[in-house]
Amino acid sequence: MCSLSNKRIIVGVTGGIAAYKSAEIVRRLQDRGADVRVVMTPGAEEFIRPLTMQALSGHPVHCGLLDEKAEAGMGHIELARWADLLLIAPATADFIATMVHGRADNLLGAIYLATSALVAVAPAMNQGMWRHPASLDNVEKLNQRGVTIIGPDSGIQACGDTGPGRMEQPDTIINQASDMFTSKSLQGKKVVITAGPTREALDPVRYISNHSSGKMGYALATAALDAGADVVLISGPVNLSIPERCQYLSVISANDMLLASLEYAKKADIFIATAAVADYRAVSIAENKIKSDSDVLTVNFEKNPDIVSTVATANESLFVVGFAAESTGVENYAKGKLKTKGLNAIIANDISRSDIGFNSDDNEVSWIDTDSSIAFSKRSKTQLSRDLIAQIAHKYNDQH
Ligand code: C5P
Repeated sequence: MCSLSNKRIIVGVTGGIAAYKSAEIVRRLQDRGADVRVVMTPGAEEFIRPLTMQALSGHPVHCGLLDEKAEAGMGHIELARWADLLLIAPATADFIATMVHGRADNLLGAIYLATSALVAVAPAMNQGMWRHPASLDNVEKLNQRGVTIIGPDSGIQACGDTGPGRMEQPDTIINQASDMFTSKSLQGKKVVITAGPTREALDPVRYISNHSSGKMGYALATAALDAGADVVLISGPVNLSIPERCQYLSVISANDMLLASLEYAKKADIFIATAAVADYRAVSIAENKIKSDSDVLTVNFEKNPDIVSTVATANESLFVVGFAAESTGVENYAKGKLKTKGLNAIIANDISRSDIGFNSDDNEVSWIDTDSSIAFSKRSKTQLSRDLIAQIAHKYNDQH
């Protein structure tokens, strides 16, 4: 069973008799570890009560664009950005047409337009409606836009007809939705990722460190695993669960991280440095706890090794990607680091903003390499990681 842990999924429910099966879909997505929010169209409310979906998902259900209470909790644009997947099940013929035409006169339509998440629809309608060229054309158009079409199933319908148009079974919908998170763009490639902060001891109880939740590195590790890579995650101390299926190395200091990186980079194809490495370490670590009785404490620091540039220099054919967290002149500083550290690409983010970066679940970055610069607008770190891994795979595969 494919895990959906850390995946954020909006289940969109539209007005068809199959809406009662959406409750089961929500439950099963949660069983696989997904964080689920439900959006219902007014038509869906005729078939199933929002309260049922609220009780199952554990969160308020979003029903209308002008719902002040829901907008105050998580506004529709925020919700669109939050999601990694928008799964519309059941999707009526009418709602599919709404998507094709880009209508935003209802909440779900607006979210579809605003989101950069993956989108899947599970059509559900009468067999005659499904067979109509208008419906088939509409589904084809969505497919061409990258929307995944799940089903429909064929058989006896609620109206008594027999034929194609029944919503696919919840299990099949969930399996196909899970598959959307996997691509084969890094199949068999070895990827090493550094993540989190490093800690530099001053004495047995004290250390200096950097702010870093590790979320970006862990999300990239998951996205690389989903893309088929063998991943080694070298992590400083963080409070996150270790992505399943990766080889995990826990380190504390920059020196530990350097040694592990050099060791594993030798056999790797791609090295991604997201770690917030402490720039300096104490020249000597006090053997006993430093007494706190003097007003001023002087500690001599020396520069830590630059892990990513040491790794890049030692492994000429390795594809190396760094990160640049800057508060001013973001692109210029990033371009400088691209060169001085000998990187193939650098991903720059602006840490002066509190809504992205560091401890936030969202990020907005620029990808910079020697011949291109691409802006990745604000989105969840999970979603962004998938997009960045796709970009890394694209560039890596171009050069090999
Ligand atoms: O801290 P700085 O802005 O120089 O970080 C840029 C990139 O270099 C990041 O990818 C970071 O992980 C890496 N780095 C490193 N070793 C250091 C400092 C930074 O690998 N000592």
